[in-house]
Amino acid sequence: MQFAILGFGAIGKLLHWQFQRAKLNVSVIAKAQQALPNTYELIDTNGVHHSAHVKPAHIPSIDCLIVCTKAYQVVDALKPLIEQLPSSSSIVLCHNGLGPHIEVCELLGAEQSLLLATTTHGALTKSSTQVIHSGLGTTKLGQISGSPLAPLLERQLLAGFGAERLTDDVLSAVWQKLVINCAINPLTAIHRVANGELLDKRFNADIAAIVAEVCQVARADGITLDPQASLEKVYQVITATASNTSSMAQDVIAGRPTEISAINGYVCQRGTLLGVTTPNNDKMVQWVVNATR
Ligand code: PAF
Repeated sequence: MQFAILGFGAIGKLLHWQFQRAKLNVSVIAKAQQALPNTYELIDTNGVHHSAHVKPAHIPSIDCLIVCTKAYQVVDALKPLIEQLPSSSSIVLCHNGLGPHIEVCELLGAEQSLLLATTTHGALTKSSTQVIHSGLGTTKLGQISGSPLAPLLERQLLAGFGAERLTDDVLSAVWQKLVINCAINPLTAIHRVANGELLDKRFNADIAAIVAEVCQVARADGITLDPQASLEKVYQVITATASNTSSMAQDVIAGRPTEISAINGYVCQRGTLLGVTTPNNDKMVQWVVNATR
């Protein structure tokens, strides 16, 4: 089976290395204007350095494309590739937030399978050729459309992602991660603080209000998220990642575009569609947009 990674940032490199370690055939597609390194180094969670070789992908031979770009790049990065991919190929979207899957689903042929993946592994870019696996986590992936995966592809995909089985209700798993990102990412980005700063009681009301709204929209969308358990999970992640700078805070500090439209923006968009008001998530979107102007 031929796997290829599109989007060779920290998570892209971590997955590439995992697939190589599992002795799978994995190559990389460069995004427009991006030069791929021939090799890179991955520093694992024990501080051990591993060197990995990068093979450029031959697009018509790809069985499964794993998209690790930022959420706002997914559709534009995929569009020029879809026609060149085999009609039986599968696509896995692996980014923070939700939303691009709706458009990608419409772009795919009837035979193509679409999967979503959500991970709690931490990865940090040190330089264009060095990435740190900063925290062990778990990855869930599951199919949301298309024909069922061939057994060999499923086995190899699970081995590469380090998951035991496909998750039946992967959208619920992605919403569980979404609620965490909705609370942590915009607040840390607006205030330019590390995740642990959100333990300060001045953030309690905003965090509680954001989480409650996300749970309401999820419920209207057919996803059950327990508000109290979700709030507790948010505080567990804040505590476990206290010294981290969230991906959105990193983007704002570096003056890069953020994933706000696939995080709080997606919740607001679904809320509007489903008749649930989302003033607190709207406020986060507005503030992050203002912070990046
Ligand atoms: O986007 C991020 O930074 C991470 O998903 C999380 C969980 C908020 C930790 O920093």
